[in-house]
Amino acid sequence: MKTLYTNISGLFVGQSNPSPLTGEQLGMSNILADVYILVENDRIIHYGPMSESLPNVDRVKDLTGKWVLPTFCDSHTHLVFAKTRENEFEQRIAGASYEEIAQAGGGIQNSALALQEMDEELLFEKALIRLKEAEYHGTGAIEIKSGYGLTLDAELKMLRVIQRLKETTNIPVKATFLGAHTVPTEYKNSRQDYINLIIHEMLPRIQDEGLADYMDVFCEKVAFSVYETKQLLEAGHRFGLKPKVHTNQFNSMGGIQACVDAAAISVDHLEVINDEEIHYLQNSGTIATLLPTAPFFLNDPLPEARKMIAADLPIALATDFNPGSSPSLKMPFVISLACIKMKMTAIEAINAATIQGAFALEIQDQVGSIQVGKKANFIITEPMEHLSFIPYSFGHDWIDQVVLNGQEIR
Ligand code: NIG
Ligand code: FE
Repeated sequence: MKTLYTNISGLFVGQSNPSPLTGEQLGMSNILADVYILVENDRIIHYGPMSESLPNVDRVKDLTGKWVLPTFCDSHTHLVFAKTRENEFEQRIAGASYEEIAQAGGGIQNSALALQEMDEELLFEKALIRLKEAEYHGTGAIEIKSGYGLTLDAELKMLRVIQRLKETTNIPVKATFLGAHTVPTEYKNSRQDYINLIIHEMLPRIQDEGLADYMDVFCEKVAFSVYETKQLLEAGHRFGLKPKVHTNQFNSMGGIQACVDAAAISVDHLEVINDEEIHYLQNSGTIATLLPTAPFFLNDPLPEARKMIAADLPIALATDFNPGSSPSLKMPFVISLACIKMKMTAIEAINAATIQGAFALEIQDQVGSIQVGKKANFIITEPMEHLSFIPYSFGHDWIDQVVLNGQEIR
């Protein structure tokens, strides 16, 4: 089956750099006017100017006035959960902080109790609905974390749900084990026992059953110390899991150094970062994944993206979709916030949400840019004149169509 998408007003090709984009590279994209894309089955097989002689195909779609860009790679989500937490939202409006709620046994602990009780089938059904919603809003590859189980059985249950999502959907899905999301209340006075449970019971089972691709830890004052994080990441490596780590959400406490030393693929959040930490990340190969909807929702300062870009750090953008700090799975809103609040340009934000996210999931050869041989995963916009209409029109659904593996899904 061959489909020709013709008269594309603007094609955001992105970049096919062999490594994550840094500095000025992030602000560059090949943007072509008046072009077509040729798709065969699930692949992009050619694109070029409308002035070329066009091939014979099974189907032609005229995209006059519309733009095309790669689908988003959402490289940080907690998409599998049992219940939303709007009660805590109300507590925060009344003045409580995210950390205070967590310390009082709410937050992640709250989500874990609900998930432990929920039947695996129902958990899967709820997650699948959310995954379809993410795809509808342009996400064409996704990472999903465990971490609301916090017992051997419940962590395995979450990871099996993620495994089923991988098998059910036709977009790339990566699974990250986040057993070290918080110390469960019953281990408050025996923290090392919980860490030992992760290392000696959870990790071996996860490896045996092939349930995870990456290892995450919440390295933060309300969760795990740097010393504990190091132990956990080392153990993850022994079981074949590379680190992707939550750090520097509220405090600079050495998490970045520990992650770089552990050859982390990415460090995620970085609302708080000092010059020494920026320096440590330079040339480390570790991607800085920024999650602007989380500090937006918690009313915290957003990460200093301009400073990081000026320091040549490779930046990615993701939603952090979760019921506590970022209950939105819309990558378009992440892009708007990145431009409005973090002063990224439209090109920088779109690159960070596409190819950079693909690097953060090690799937840059399959997705993240418009390239011959890559998956035919792209977004078709409504008619628009300038690329900046995308971040500008925040809250408005500017997506006309999402194509995944050559199939139109909306
Ligand atoms: O990335 N900070 C740690 N984990 C999530 C929030 C999880 C929750 O509150 O349920 C985050 O913000
Ligand atoms: Fe997160």
